[in-house]
Amino acid sequence: MNVRITGTGSALPGKILTNAELERLVDTSDEWITTRTGIKERRIAVEGEYTSTFAAEAARRAMAMAGAHPEEIDLIIIGTVTPDFPFPSTACIVQDLLGATNATAFDLSAACSGFLYGVSIAEKFLRSGAARKVLVIGSEVLSRIVDWQDRNTCVLFGDGAGAVVLEASEGDHSLLSTHTFSNGSFWNLLYQPGSGSRNPATESRTIDERLIYLKMEGNDVFKHAVRAMEEAALKALDANGLTPSNISLMIPHQANRRIIDATTKRLGLGPDKLFTNLHRYGNTSSASIPIALDEANRQGVIKPDSKLLMVAFGGGFTYASALVNW
Ligand code: COA
Repeated sequence: MNVRITGTGSALPGKILTNAELERLVDTSDEWITTRTGIKERRIAVEGEYTSTFAAEAARRAMAMAGAHPEEIDLIIIGTVTPDFPFPSTACIVQDLLGATNATAFDLSAACSGFLYGVSIAEKFLRSGAARKVLVIGSEVLSRIVDWQDRNTCVLFGDGAGAVVLEASEGDHSLLSTHTFSNGSFWNLLYQPGSGSRNPATESRTIDERLIYLKMEGNDVFKHAVRAMEEAALKALDANGLTPSNISLMIPHQANRRIIDATTKRLGLGPDKLFTNLHRYGNTSSASIPIALDEANRQGVIKPDSKLLMVAFGGGFTYASALVNW
């Protein structure tokens, strides 16, 4: 059984935070952010908007494109590091919002690789016949775990969601492969110390020591990200007997323009083979690839029968790739 992407969708907060506005919050400049990251603005959730809000809207749009009814969905996987609550899963909340009464629903924690990890799991369910229609969603409200006093991190991240409907299919327009990787030796280079069992909430630690907020060693993460994304991309190509010249379009995790440029340079892919939108959204973690995929799809950038390569890297470390014959 093959696996086809039959619908894509995305949903973003209406509120825009520009680099110029960030200049008023921390000691930074539009020039620094633009040259170091390529980011110009990001979307920020407002009161009453949660990870489930954007996840459900992105899913509705993907289901509308696929012509899928909520009751037909067998499985909902949400990649997120900013769930509505530690439990229940945001996927269960989204199941309820959608009325997807026949679905099994769970969250998946693989940071920025969460969407491609989800696609990989969905692929196994679909190829084995255990499911026929699956929703894979990446959704984040990172603005609620970012330290707005830390200029090293707060300029990088944004909020939003993207989703796909994946279906069992017999045609050639299908997923060719997925690969997932983990390297836990570097878990503490990108993490949120104060939200789990290791540092239970106390006023002094959680708030005063700012453990509730995301921490990152930016330089180290940068180097690992480039190497890992290249490895994940090459694994996908090798597995399918392809070379970079066979790739029509690459949608990388939208973390940082310099990471993307270094990765594509190592792969020998020209800028014409690249789809990016991080200048408008920043790093939306697990949501970045499905948001970009939805925009590329709706803009007609992905041609039928073209080879689409998606590559992710994130905290854990985790990294992943998926190759699609569109
Ligand atoms: N505005 C102005 N200056 C800033 C700044 C900001 N927003 N953030 C950091 N700086 C300063 C630093 O304090 C440092 O100053 P110092 O030399 O006086 O100490 C200087 O800029 C250089 O910092 P450095 O960390 O060397 O910059 P960099 O070129 O490595 O860029 C990142 C920093 C974070 C943009 C870069 O390391 C990066 O992109 N890392 C990967 C992050 C990422 O994508 N993570 C998610 C992966 S999924």
